Amino acid sequence: MPPPFLIVISLLLLISFLKFIHKIIWIPLRIQYHFKKQGIAGPGYRPISGNLGELRRLYAAAQSSKSMPFSHDIIHRVLPFYQEWSRKYGKMFLFWYGIKPRVVISDPDMIKEVLMNNKIAGSIEKLALNPLGKILFGEGLVVLEGEKWALHRRIANQAFNLERVMKVRLCVKTPDSRILFQSWVPDIVASTTDVLRKWEEIRGGREEFEDGEEETLEAEEVIDECKTFYFAGKETTANVLTWALLLLASHQEWQEKAREEVFHVYGGKELGLIINETLRLYPPAATLGRQTSKKVDLGNLAVPAGTQLSIPLTAVHHDTDIWGEDANEFYPSRFNESRKRLASFFPFGLGPRICAGQNLAIFEAKIVLAMIIKDYYFVVSPTYAHAPTFFISLQPQHGAQILERFQIESSSALSKKHVLVDSWVAVSSSESDKYLYFLTKNLNPEEENK
Ligand code: HEM
Repeated sequence: MPPPFLIVISLLLLISFLKFIHKIIWIPLRIQYHFKKQGIAGPGYRPISGNLGELRRLYAAAQSSKSMPFSHDIIHRVLPFYQEWSRKYGKMFLFWYGIKPRVVISDPDMIKEVLMNNKIAGSIEKLALNPLGKILFGEGLVVLEGEKWALHRRIANQAFNLERVMKVRLCVKTPDSRILFQSWVPDIVASTTDVLRKWEEIRGGREEFEDGEEETLEAEEVIDECKTFYFAGKETTANVLTWALLLLASHQEWQEKAREEVFHVYGGKELGLIINETLRLYPPAATLGRQTSKKVDLGNLAVPAGTQLSIPLTAVHHDTDIWGEDANEFYPSRFNESRKRLASFFPFGLGPRICAGQNLAIFEAKIVLAMIIKDYYFVVSPTYAHAPTFFISLQPQHGAQILERFQIESSSALSKKHVLVDSWVAVSSSESDKYLYFLTKNLNPEEENK
């Protein structure tokens, strides 16, 4: 007979082992079966790693070639897992992010249900960011939940309403309008946080919405929101502008239409169509994520608590069943017609967590595009390698080279210059030395001024 303490240790070990097996084998297989019964299939569950290995392999294969032909049919490169698995298992499928089940939802009506989150209160929440994301965004609006999110959101809504966004622009504008847009994005974000701080001061620590309670943002919270506005606002807008220029460079007829509009100050209709079509084809937020905190029904689908929901926004924007056979073509006029389904075009998200900076982003994109189009004529450079890639946001992997020509004011000659457009950080303009300056991540000095 073994000593009693050995029996206790053996029992404890056995219980831990059974718990482990329950967590990494029994529960996932049960969930897989639960979805299979409802017609949702996918690549089978593998203990512990799930489908992460296949996911990595698919991304590596998609990016193994330096570039692809200059077409807007980009899903195989941007969301290769969706391309592969939706073909095999249908547009709604289940895969495993480690031991976490992830259901991919691409039906606009179901997407609307998920993002509007009108179900049992709080049953669907944001998918937690990875540790790097948390460092970049801070504990700001993008990651907050519950009451704290609601308070921050009310403040941000005030700061970003259209009227205030117009004022922000005035803040950026200096008396010398020639350096109007120097450091546009960081400045505008800084000005916005000024608006936020001033609004806080005016409130004098009073909570406007709930009687009796005194709530203000702590210094740390304001810093976190600054981080959020910077990262949520800069990369996204920079990439939209980059893609818009590239699309206009390859569609001269639209570049001309836009220029015509800018010269005659028609009110930005054509620019609006162009920006929408850019956001449709190249949405910076390529996918959105949520998770269920309670059991919830989506349409006819019963979804258990703890299920991750992945919304392949880019794939929905390119879906020929929704947009027609020309879904992968650049055709801004399609936005002249109203859309039948709300969640067929949602570059800024939908519902309560819709982008807080949407007004600012569109306003900023229109103004920067108008300024460039007014003075510059551009075509795609022969050195451009088309390689859309999803890293934090949807961006051109090797930068976006355009060949631009501009009118020098002292002479009427057109001069040629080679500029790399990748990430817009600074745009400046002065009378004597008229130039566009793009501080880029991939800037190759030898390419410049060719
Ligand atoms: C073209 C540019 C932009 C695009 C495409 C974009 C896209 C998005 C999307 C899709 C979401 C929702 C994410 C989700 O539902 O999971 C979001 C949220 C957010 N965006 Fe933007 N964004 C842009 C510009 C900006 C700017 C300029 C700012 C601020 C300066 C900003 C601040 C935020 C914030 C704070 C949130 C979180 C809102 C919340 O959870 O309540 N964004 N954005």
